[in-house]
Amino acid sequence: MRLIKLSFVLFFIFLCLLTNAQQSETAALGKVKLEFNLDKSGTPVYAVYYSGKAVILPSLLGFKLDVDSMFFTSFRLLGTERKSFDQNWQTVWGETKIIRNHYTELTIRLQSQQSPGRLLNIIFRVFEDGVGFRYEFPLQPKLKYFIVRDELTEFNQTGDHKTFWIPGDFDTNEYMYTTSRISEIDNQKMVETSTDICVRIAPDAYAVQTPLMMKTNAGLYVNIHEAALINYPAMQLHVNKDNFSYRASLVPDTYGNKAYLHAPFKTPWRTIIVSDQAADILSSKIILNLNDPSVLTNTSWIKPMKFTGVWWEMQTGKSTWSYSDFPDSLGTDGKLIPNGKHGATTANVKRYIDFASANHIGGVLVEGWNTGWEDWFGNWKENVFSFTTPYPDFDIAELSRYAAANNVQLIMHNETSGSATDYERQMDTAFRYMNLFGYKSVKTGYVGKIIPRGEHHDGQWMVDHYLRVAQKAAQYQVMLDSHEPVRPTGLQRTYPNWMASEAGRGNEYNAFSIGSPPEHETILPFTRLIGGPMDYTPGIFKMKGYNANAPDRQMHSTLCKQLALYVTLYSPLQMVADLPENYAAHKDAFQFIKDVPTDWDDTRILGAEPGDYIYIARKEKGSENWFIGAITDENKRVAGLSLSFLDNGKSYVATIYKDGPNADWKDNPESYSIEQYIVESNSSMQVQLAPGGGTAISIFPATAADIKKIKHYKP
Ligand code: NOJ
Ligand code: CA
Repeated sequence: MRLIKLSFVLFFIFLCLLTNAQQSETAALGKVKLEFNLDKSGTPVYAVYYSGKAVILPSLLGFKLDVDSMFFTSFRLLGTERKSFDQNWQTVWGETKIIRNHYTELTIRLQSQQSPGRLLNIIFRVFEDGVGFRYEFPLQPKLKYFIVRDELTEFNQTGDHKTFWIPGDFDTNEYMYTTSRISEIDNQKMVETSTDICVRIAPDAYAVQTPLMMKTNAGLYVNIHEAALINYPAMQLHVNKDNFSYRASLVPDTYGNKAYLHAPFKTPWRTIIVSDQAADILSSKIILNLNDPSVLTNTSWIKPMKFTGVWWEMQTGKSTWSYSDFPDSLGTDGKLIPNGKHGATTANVKRYIDFASANHIGGVLVEGWNTGWEDWFGNWKENVFSFTTPYPDFDIAELSRYAAANNVQLIMHNETSGSATDYERQMDTAFRYMNLFGYKSVKTGYVGKIIPRGEHHDGQWMVDHYLRVAQKAAQYQVMLDSHEPVRPTGLQRTYPNWMASEAGRGNEYNAFSIGSPPEHETILPFTRLIGGPMDYTPGIFKMKGYNANAPDRQMHSTLCKQLALYVTLYSPLQMVADLPENYAAHKDAFQFIKDVPTDWDDTRILGAEPGDYIYIARKEKGSENWFIGAITDENKRVAGLSLSFLDNGKSYVATIYKDGPNADWKDNPESYSIEQYIVESNSSMQVQLAPGGGTAISIFPATAADIKKIKHYKP
């Protein structure tokens, strides 16, 4: 009997050893390798390597759920599956026409050893330029409805990297970037002093937003973000400065809960892009590839375009969004008393339609056309705007007729002032109204504290809301540009009518605040734009003194840099933001804006370093034309631009819009010159960029007459 007991105990110990032994799986593609381990306590751990060197040190995976606060340990491996994938797909619009989706996939199937044995899968995809992974809660009897209290995913760094960060704020991405070591991250001062952003909620001083860009001392570029954010809160990162580790920090609701889920459910993908070349970070397609293909079968109505708008005049105080200055006081006729400065009048909008029509600009955005602007923001009021009631001086029927007659589209504006509940109630009517008057695009806005009260811009409820708006817009064949939403995560692949978002500190800050430093636009493509296009509103030509109420305001840019932004900051809806009269003052430079498209067959990153410079060449969709944008930070530099992407043996006319010899963003921002040369694929250009400056180049196939008339480029 004793012997039987002993052998039973021994067998049990053997079983325990077996199940607790470290289990390791790897998957690799090119230089990138992923390693997965279940450690002795049954905790899932992953690590990432690039060219054999660690990029992410062993990092924990798992959750605290309401039903199991230890859903990160005591797992056993049920099985693994592997597959590889290599397919090209065609974009509806974008930076390139064709995208290769090439990865090897490793699925890890786990079961908790605690009763009742709940299941969790982790799916890894290893690409040539990084790794994506997501959790899956499969259909199972003992995990049906549950709450995510915390996601514990870690991203343990190999050292105290140089980091380009903004605070992990639950409600805004509109901060300036700080460049610091990981160990120096502390967002408190930035949050406190950014009074130009109206809602700032960042309770954790050590939290940063993604996309987070880093550079190691060894020269590796590492970017952390997420893809396909659906029905889940945004992932921010809490930093542990002692060991250079980040942990997922999900945006909570008012109860501190993160996500309310119903299995089966797949979380968004967590992404790590890595390369020893900064340019590869900009050309990475990981985020798009991790999103599902378009759910829209007919996309023929989705058309990228440039647009102008009655907008900069409001931002700079020349006109107002509101019709009256007094929300409560009415005239003897019982109507609002007009303030005489309203921007969205029929006559003024016609002026912008004429301007757009004369310059082949597809759209005119009209803000301030609808009732509600008298007390639209700062009051946390639920019912503010009507999305179907124009102000008395805005004749929508006449304007929609006039726009159509001039081959221009009006762009609808639906500012919600954060009242998502009210927008959801009005949404159907609002989109029907757009259809009725021929509006094919809408710009939404969420300035202010969110309603439902207690929700945040980046929490699960609002993440769902933005997507509902995109889906509703698709139902009515309307293109969407959302302002103040959660930052994008590549959903523009699945919903290609979700053209652009703001979700960052746009050019507008130069109008109403101290603005952003010249390096800002050299960081954005490595951070905010990793997730998707940004409605940055480039193209300001009057660089100083544009705000009568604050005469010392100025752009942190030269005029040529504003041109270059049309290439370096991609958006399929791209604004031509300045006033028609300011373009009239620089007709020759305006030619570049007239020429530059918003949809591309191909993109080449010619040079890039976050925080310093970005040089990009793009080929126009369905054309032989190329465009280059090159920008610098506050330092002047010479951009070396090899044209090897051009067709061999063909000649082209390059028109270079460049900073004047003494141009300087601060004291001499409007100085530029325009030169023309014949160039070929073996030409290599050297262009001087002023401090805070840039250059824009259009390259068109040359005619025989051009070749005779125009001189050859010599550096
Ligand atoms: C903030 C947006 O970013 C801006 O473009 C818009 O004009 C105002 N809100 C008003 O909606
Ligand atoms: Ca904004």
